[in-house]
Amino acid sequence: MQTREKWRSGLGFVLAAAGSAVGLGNLWGFAYRSSQGGGLAFLLLYILVVLVVCLPVLVGEMVLGRSTASSPFLAPVQAAGESWKPLGWLFAISSCGILSFYAVIMGWTADTFFHSLFIGLPVDMVEASDFFGRISSGNSVFVGQIISLVLTGSVVAAGVRGGIERLTRWAMPLLFVLLLILAIWATTLSGSWEGYTSFLFKWDPSQLLDKTTIRNAFTQAFFSLSLGIGIMVAYSSYLDKNNKLPKEALGVASFDTGVGLLAGMITFPIVMSFGLKDVISESTVGALFIALPTGFANLGLIGRLLAAVFFGLAFLAAITSSISLLEVPVSSMIDRLGWTRRKAVWISTFFVFLLGVPSAISLNFLGNMDAVFNVFLILGGFLISILMGWFIPSKYDQDLASSNSDQGVRRYLKFMIRWVSPPVIAFGLIVSVIDLVQ
Ligand code: PHE
Repeated sequence: MQTREKWRSGLGFVLAAAGSAVGLGNLWGFAYRSSQGGGLAFLLLYILVVLVVCLPVLVGEMVLGRSTASSPFLAPVQAAGESWKPLGWLFAISSCGILSFYAVIMGWTADTFFHSLFIGLPVDMVEASDFFGRISSGNSVFVGQIISLVLTGSVVAAGVRGGIERLTRWAMPLLFVLLLILAIWATTLSGSWEGYTSFLFKWDPSQLLDKTTIRNAFTQAFFSLSLGIGIMVAYSSYLDKNNKLPKEALGVASFDTGVGLLAGMITFPIVMSFGLKDVISESTVGALFIALPTGFANLGLIGRLLAAVFFGLAFLAAITSSISLLEVPVSSMIDRLGWTRRKAVWISTFFVFLLGVPSAISLNFLGNMDAVFNVFLILGGFLISILMGWFIPSKYDQDLASSNSDQGVRRYLKFMIRWVSPPVIAFGLIVSVIDLVQ
């Protein structure tokens, strides 16, 4: 049995968790979901879901990892017995499934970065759809997918401290500062105000009851926080007792929401200033891979440079997420099969590559994978809330007490994970499934 690695510092853990949370979901998903009609109603529902139902579950995942010190595959069984085995499987399946298409989108991101620097970007709508056709089909997709997976595998193979913590320590602060600068620059564009008010902050109260807006709020919350998939279990299993998990969970959630907002505040002014409004309502990938490159290209050489910064950052954000996805099967194989980290990494990377081939070939397939696995995340979150709130509530509380978390906070979390998270997540799950099959 190998001894379990530990994070170098509490901050290292928080940055790695934030690194997992902040990714393409913030830069791509947030903008497109808020542009699907929801606007401010989507934003409010999303923040409500994060604060009220996701935070207690996030703490729940962290407690599950820390108190069992085992991988997501084994932790549920160790904590509550054999009947919880399916949850470990759900984590493993969801993480491989999500990584399989996530790596394809990472490949497009890398390709757009490459185009910004060396080839050029589309300047009008005709060129723009051509451009997207090029980056999302043919052999270049496989090249991008393979590069993304190999980079991901290399970081995970280097281990928790030497790989994951070392990368996220500098990547996350850099990402935030540069996004902030880009968002401030975006306020100076002529269409900025119109961009905010026609998308991000568009107010239509009827949207609060709209099925798609509700599904978008739930899927964005779970996907963006990397919740319901065992990642926080894996990362917290390398933790010491002295981290105050509720505070850290709140830090991760706020950072994640902040980055989503910043990305929206960059995307929509660009979209409005360059008359690209139709693009983003037409397709889910339109905002990130069609409207933004075209908008940037309209600013000439400086624009291309800004595009390179933006897509470089997007790729960096994506890799700090993809490594967390790979860590789920890898840590599970190390624990369950006794494999070395290296062997577990490359075998699971190869498996994920094969699983991603259909997504690399067909956009339609990729879209379906995205929709289905988002529902898996909500299901995972529901099961975690049942596990922590109803099967082992005292473990939840004891673990938090042992790290001296405030008693009021503990009481609040215990109440929420037992009485509020399960029914509200069940509601979100049902509405999402109905909306999807309709
Ligand atoms: N949270 C990541 C993002 O927003 C994606 C992700 C989802 C990562 C689920 C891990 C698990 O891009």
